[in-house]
Amino acid sequence: MITRRGFLRFIGGSFLSVASFSAYAVGIEPMLLTHVKRYALTPPHWPDGLKLRVVALADIHACRPWMTPERIASLAEEANALQPDLIVLLGDYIAGMRLVSQRVTPPEWAGALSGLKAPLGVLSILGNHDWWADGFAQRAEVGPTIARKALEKAGIPVLENDAVRLEKDGHGVWIAGLADQLALLPKRKHEPPRGLDDLDGTLAKVSDASPVILLAHEPDIFPKVPSRVSLTLSGHTHGGQVRLFGYSPIVPSQYGNRYAYGHVVENDRDLIVSGGLGFSNLPIRFGMRPEILQIDLG
Ligand SMILES: [Fe+2]
Repeated sequence: MITRRGFLRFIGGSFLSVASFSAYAVGIEPMLLTHVKRYALTPPHWPDGLKLRVVALADIHACRPWMTPERIASLAEEANALQPDLIVLLGDYIAGMRLVSQRVTPPEWAGALSGLKAPLGVLSILGNHDWWADGFAQRAEVGPTIARKALEKAGIPVLENDAVRLEKDGHGVWIAGLADQLALLPKRKHEPPRGLDDLDGTLAKVSDASPVILLAHEPDIFPKVPSRVSLTLSGHTHGGQVRLFGYSPIVPSQYGNRYAYGHVVENDRDLIVSGGLGFSNLPIRFGMRPEILQIDLG
């Protein structure tokens, strides 16, 4: 028989463990435990002698109180301190949690990102939230979005179905950026969002044999990426935000856990999916700390 006092102690204990789990998942893990996730690889079609350090920031989702301009500025300093050759931003600067957070304006978050510095520059792509938050662009079904204008004003080029050629140590390297695959919200219920991505058109801009790094906000494009691309970098999934033993119960991808997080090699092609920095829907992360990617190639 359970006594009344025992029952109350049980309820109290359960309440405390739920409260401390919530404090961890909502407060400590998302806010304090940002870490640098390091990868080192020599992807296919990579020339001998080209050493390239790419630092990537994904899914910033600027909002108060969790991702303030001050925090973004300090993340930018952390990224700079890794001494990258190139910094890339993988989309979703804007938050999608209108109900539980306060807005950080595009000039505020883009201004904080303008502190990013690297010898080969800073390049960016947009994510679905950058499109979805822009009513005018949604109606017009065309950019430039407010997010794109804010990034450009901060001196950060935005690649939407575009590619640029960089050079290091006498070697060329292409950075190709795909327009968002979920950019346009459906006009009718039960229809899926429409993408503005043009993979073939993007890669058609690659005009020599130098290696290609593709930036694609959503990893779902990966099965279509040709082996001509040495490495694809994505975000969007947040690693599911909750991830235990390599499994994420909820992943915003038609492939479920296949591209939820980390380094994926399929048919001699490489994909790295960042767990990102902010969150969407619920301000919770568990087993998936906010991360800055450092990728050493060569
Ligand atoms: Fe996204």
